[in-house]
Amino acid sequence: MPDSARTVRLSGRTCGWLGLVEKDGVMRGFITDPAARGGLRLADDLPEPDPAADEVVVAVRAYAVNHDEANLIARRPDGWRPGQDVAGVVVRAAASGKGPAVGDRVVCYLDWEGWAERVAVPVHCTAVLDDRVSFEAAAALPIAGLTALRALRVGGAVLGRQVLITGATGGVGQYAVQLAAAAGARVTALVSSPEREAEARALGARHIVTSLDDAGLGPFHLILDGIGGPITAQAIRRIAPGGHLAWYGNIGGAAELNLADFYAQGWNAHIVGFISPVPEETKGEDLGILADLVADGRLTPLIGLTLDWAQTADAFEALAARTLRGKAVLRVT
Ligand SMILES: NC(=O)c1ccc[n+]([C@@H]2O[C@H](COP(=O)([O-])OP(=O)(O)OC[C@H]3O[C@@H](n4cnc5c(N)ncnc54)[C@H](OP(=O)(O)O)[C@@H]3O)[C@@H](O)[C@H]2O)c1
Repeated sequence: MPDSARTVRLSGRTCGWLGLVEKDGVMRGFITDPAARGGLRLADDLPEPDPAADEVVVAVRAYAVNHDEANLIARRPDGWRPGQDVAGVVVRAAASGKGPAVGDRVVCYLDWEGWAERVAVPVHCTAVLDDRVSFEAAAALPIAGLTALRALRVGGAVLGRQVLITGATGGVGQYAVQLAAAAGARVTALVSSPEREAEARALGARHIVTSLDDAGLGPFHLILDGIGGPITAQAIRRIAPGGHLAWYGNIGGAAELNLADFYAQGWNAHIVGFISPVPEETKGEDLGILADLVADGRLTPLIGLTLDWAQTADAFEALAARTLRGKAVLRVT
C-alpha cells in the first residue's frame, strides 16, 4: 500500500485528504526521563503538533540519531522532546500555502521533537523525496549529510584536488568521502583500523590510511575533521599552503595546536569552526540536493543499523560503543 493511502491520526479532526477521523489529540513520542534507559521514554500522551503558518505537519516514518542528541538528552530538563533527522509523509500543508503538499514524502532537518508520530516542520527545513528514496535512506541524511555537503563547500572547487576526510566510515565521513569523490576530488580517507579500508574504498576513496604519520601525504587543499584530539594537529601538518580545514567535531577529544604545525607546509592555511545548521534558511534546499543524489544512485547512505523506534536506546549504545558503520536509523511503527 502506498504511504499516502495509509491511515493517519491527526489532532482529533477530520484529515481532509483521506477523510479519516482520529481521536483525542494525543500521540506517541520520545521525551527525556532520567529514570528510563538511555534517558529516554516513549510517552503516549503528547499533544498533537500545533503548526505555525509556515509549517507542515509530517507523519514520521523513520529517523536517525546523532552524537549531539545524546548530549542534549543528558543536558535538557525532564520531558524535553528530542529528534532532528526525520523522514515521513506530509499530512497537513502549511497554512501559508508554501512548501510541500499533503501526501508528499519528505525529509526534514529539525531542531527537536522529531521522534514522535507527527511533528510540525518549517517548510524551509523540508525537501520532497523522489519515490526511489526510502524513508530510511532519507532519515539518514539531514545532520550528517548536510555537515558533509556544507563542509566540502569550505574548500570551493575540489575537482582534481587532494581532500582528506578523517573518520571516513563514520556518519559524516561516509557522506564526505562520497560527495568529495563525486565532485572530482582525489580523496584520502583516514580510518581507525585496517578493517575499515574496504568500506572506505567502496565509498570512493583513492587512498586509505590509518595514520597521518607519512610526511608524503597531501598536501591537502581541503581537510574535513570530526575527530579532533591529536588528529587535528597531524592533519594541519599535511595541509597545503592556503588550504582549509573544516573542523566539525572533536569526538576524539580536545585538540592542541601549535603555530609550528602550520609551518610544516600549510602557510596561511585556515581552520573553520564548522557548524552544519547554518545557514538555516537553505536547509531544505541542501537536503533536496542530497536526496536527489540518492535518487540518482550517486550517493548511498551507509546505514549500519535499522531498528524499531522502541529500540532508540540501543541505537545510542551502538553509536557510543563504535560498533556502528555509518548511520543508525529507527522505523516509526
Ligand atoms: N559541527 C556540526 O554541525 C556537526 C555535525 C555532525 C556531527 N558533528 C560531530 O562530529 C563528530 C563525528 O560525528 P559522526 O556523526 O560522524 O560520528 P560517528 O558516526 O560516530 O563517526 C565517527 C568516526 O570517527 C571515528 N572515530 C571515533 N573516535 C575516534 C578516535 N578517538 N580516533 C580516531 N577515530 C575515531 C570512528 O571510527 P570507528 O567507526 O572505526 O570507531 C568513525 O568513523 C561528533 O563529535 C559529532 O558530534 C558535528
